[in-house]
Amino acid sequence: MSLIRIRPSWAISENKITPETVYFNRRRLLKGMISASIAGSLIPLSGCQKSASQTALEATLQQPKIPGVKTSPEFSQVDRPITKAILAGQYNNFYEFGGTKKIWLNAQNLPTENWKVEVTGLVNNPKTYDIDDLKKKFPLEERVYRFRCVEAWSMVLPWVGFPMKKLIEAVDPKSEAKYVRFTSFYDKDITTGPAFHLGYLPWPYKEGLRIEEMANDLAFFAVGIYGHDLPKQHGAPIRMVIPWKYGFKGAKSIVKIEFLNEQPATYWNTIDPNEYDFEANVNPAKPHPRWSQATEKFISTGPGLSWDIKETLPYNGYGEYVASLYA
Ligand code: MTE
Repeated sequence: MSLIRIRPSWAISENKITPETVYFNRRRLLKGMISASIAGSLIPLSGCQKSASQTALEATLQQPKIPGVKTSPEFSQVDRPITKAILAGQYNNFYEFGGTKKIWLNAQNLPTENWKVEVTGLVNNPKTYDIDDLKKKFPLEERVYRFRCVEAWSMVLPWVGFPMKKLIEAVDPKSEAKYVRFTSFYDKDITTGPAFHLGYLPWPYKEGLRIEEMANDLAFFAVGIYGHDLPKQHGAPIRMVIPWKYGFKGAKSIVKIEFLNEQPATYWNTIDPNEYDFEANVNPAKPHPRWSQATEKFISTGPGLSWDIKETLPYNGYGEYVASLYA
C-alpha cells in the first residue's frame, strides 16, 4: 500500500479523473474556472492562526448535536479510519452549487427551514413528512460506512439516520411498485452552480433504486453526520446513503420520493449511460470507460494531507449483504 503525499492542490488527480468535471471539460464549459479555483483550495487542517475561510468552514460543520443516537454495532465495522469532518466537509460534489469540489461555501445558500419530503406514487399511505416528524418517527442510529465515489476516491463517514426499509414499511407500497425515484431540491434562483444554467442538463438531480435495493438492510437515509445534523454541503437535511454503490447514487437534499412501476430516468445516467449505469454497484473488475476502478484514493489524514491508495472491493466491501440482489 503506498502513501502518496500531495501538493496543496487536490486538483492534480481530480482533474484527470473527475467524471463530471471531465464531462463539463469536454464541452469546454468550466475550462479555466477549474484550474483557477481548485488550486490551493483545500483549507489546512490546523495552524497557529486560522484563516477567515477556515473559520467559515468550521462554522458550517458546527451543527446541532442529535441527542440519544447510538452507534449500530453491526454497521460500524470498517477497517479504515473515519475521515476527518473538516476534510469531508470541504471536498464535496453538489453540482447545484458549483462544478468543483469546493462548493461548501456556496451550498450554505440552501434553504433548509420547514423542509418537507413528499412520499408518493404507488403506495397505500402517501404522506408529506415534515423533516422534524421524520426524525422523530424513525429511531436514529449511527452507522460508519465506506464511501466510494465513481471518480475513484473514497472516505469513511459516520452517518446518522434510519434504514430506508422503515419508510417502506410506513408507506406500504402497492404490489405494482418496482422502483423508487428520489428527487433533490431544485430552485433556479438558489441552486445556481455554474452547470445549473445549462438548460440541457436534466435538473433536478434525481436518483433511483429497485425497491429490493431500497429494502436492503444497508440502504440508509442520513439526516446527520459526525453526530450532528447534516451540514448543507453534505446534502442537508436528508440524503441517501447506499454504501455498496458509487457515491452519485446518493442524492442529496431530498424533497420527493416516488414509488413507480418503471425504472426512472436519473441524472447522470441520462447525461451519459455508458459512464454512469443505473445500477452503479462498486465493481473493481469493471473499469469506467476512462479509468480503472481497481483501486481508490482513500482520503487520509496523515501529518499532511495525503491519499492512501487502496484496493477497491466488490460492492465496496458489502457483498455479504447485497450480492444476492444481483445473483
Ligand atoms: N446529490 C445532488 N443533489 N447533487 C450532486 O451533485 N453528487 C453526488 C452525490 N449526491 C450530487 C448528489 C456525488 S457524484 C457524490 S460523490 C456525493 O453526492 C458526494 O457526497 P459528499 O459531498 O457528501 O461527499
